[in-house]
Amino acid sequence: MKQFKDRVAVVTGAASGIGRGLAERFAAEGMKVVLADIEAGPLAETAAALEAKGATTLAVETDVSKADQVDALAKSTIDAFGAVHIVCNNAGVAVGGLSWERTLADWEWVMGVNLWGVIHGIRSFVPIMLEQGTEGHIVNTSSSAGISSSAGLPIYTATKHAVVALSEVLHYEFAMTGAKLRASVLCPLYVATNIVDSDRNRPEELQNEEAAPLSPLKRPEMQAAVDTFRQTLATGDTPAEIADAVFTAIKDEKFYIINDARAKDGPRKRLADILEDRNPAPGPAASSAASS
Ligand SMILES: NC(=O)c1ccc[n+]([C@@H]2O[C@H](COP(=O)([O-])OP(=O)(O)OC[C@H]3O[C@@H](n4cnc5c(N)ncnc54)[C@H](O)[C@@H]3O)[C@@H](O)[C@H]2O)c1
Repeated sequence: MKQFKDRVAVVTGAASGIGRGLAERFAAEGMKVVLADIEAGPLAETAAALEAKGATTLAVETDVSKADQVDALAKSTIDAFGAVHIVCNNAGVAVGGLSWERTLADWEWVMGVNLWGVIHGIRSFVPIMLEQGTEGHIVNTSSSAGISSSAGLPIYTATKHAVVALSEVLHYEFAMTGAKLRASVLCPLYVATNIVDSDRNRPEELQNEEAAPLSPLKRPEMQAAVDTFRQTLATGDTPAEIADAVFTAIKDEKFYIINDARAKDGPRKRLADILEDRNPAPGPAASSAASS
C-alpha cells in the first residue's frame, strides 16, 4: 500500500501493547482507525487518547475468538467508514506449562484468541476487501515462538506456528488469485507490553477449576522467574518500534516482519536440524518466555 491518509485500518487487541502502538501509528498517518478489544475500559481510554490527538476512531468491543463478533466488527467498520484497507489480526494471550498438564479450558482459550481470532479476521474481512477492489493489507501477529519451538509455552507455540503457516498460505492465495491485497506476518521477540498479565481478559466460561495445575510462572517458587520475564519484556522493543516496522513492511510489501535479529537464531537451528535429519536439541526452555 502506498496511500494511507483517510484510509481505514482495523486493529484487534488495540487497547494495549503492540495493538495500541499500531493504532497510534496508523492514526499518525492520517488513517481512520477501528479499535477492537475485549477489555472495555482500556479500549475506551485508547480511543479517547487518539481522538484527543485529532484522530478519527471507532471503538468496538470485540471478542476475536467469536466468529459473530468479528463479523459484527467488519459490519461496524463498513457502516462507519464505508471501506477497510488494513486489518491487523493482533489480539493474543499466553499461558505457560506442560502440554499434557494444561486444561482443556487453557487450550480453548489460547487457541480461540490466537488462532481462531486470526481465522475469523481473515474470513470476515478479506471478502469485503476483495469486493472493494482497492489495495489493502492483512497483518497477522505471530511471534518468534511461531518460527521456532522450545518447551514452556505449548499452546502459544502451536497457535503461533499455525498463524505463520496460515499467513504464508494467504500470501500465496493473494498472488495466485491476482488480488490487490498483500499479507504480512509479525514475529516479535520481546516487546514491553502487558502480555504477562493475559489472564486479566480470560472469559468466565474458560476459567480453570481450582484444581487445575498452576502454570509454572504462577507457582510461588517461580516468582523470581516471573519478575525476570517482566524485566526482560520491559527491556524489549517498544510497541512504537514494532509499529514502525509494521508500517514500513506494509509500505514495502514485506511479508516477514522480524525486527530483532535474535529471533532468527531459532529458525536457523530448526531448519538445519530438519535438513540434516538431526533430532532437535532442547533449546532454552521458553520459561523465560512463559507468561501467565
Ligand atoms: N509482548 C511480546 O513480547 C510479544 C512477543 C511476540 C508476540 N506477541 C504478540 O503480540 C500480540 C499483542 O500482544 P501484546 O504483547 O501487545 O499484549 P497485551 O496484553 O499488551 O495486548 C493484548 C491485547 O489483546 C486483547 N485481547 C485479549 N483477548 C482478546 C480477545 N479475546 N478479543 C479481543 N482482544 C483481546 C487484550 O485486552 C489486550 O488489549 C499478541 O498476539 C502476542 O502474542 C507479543
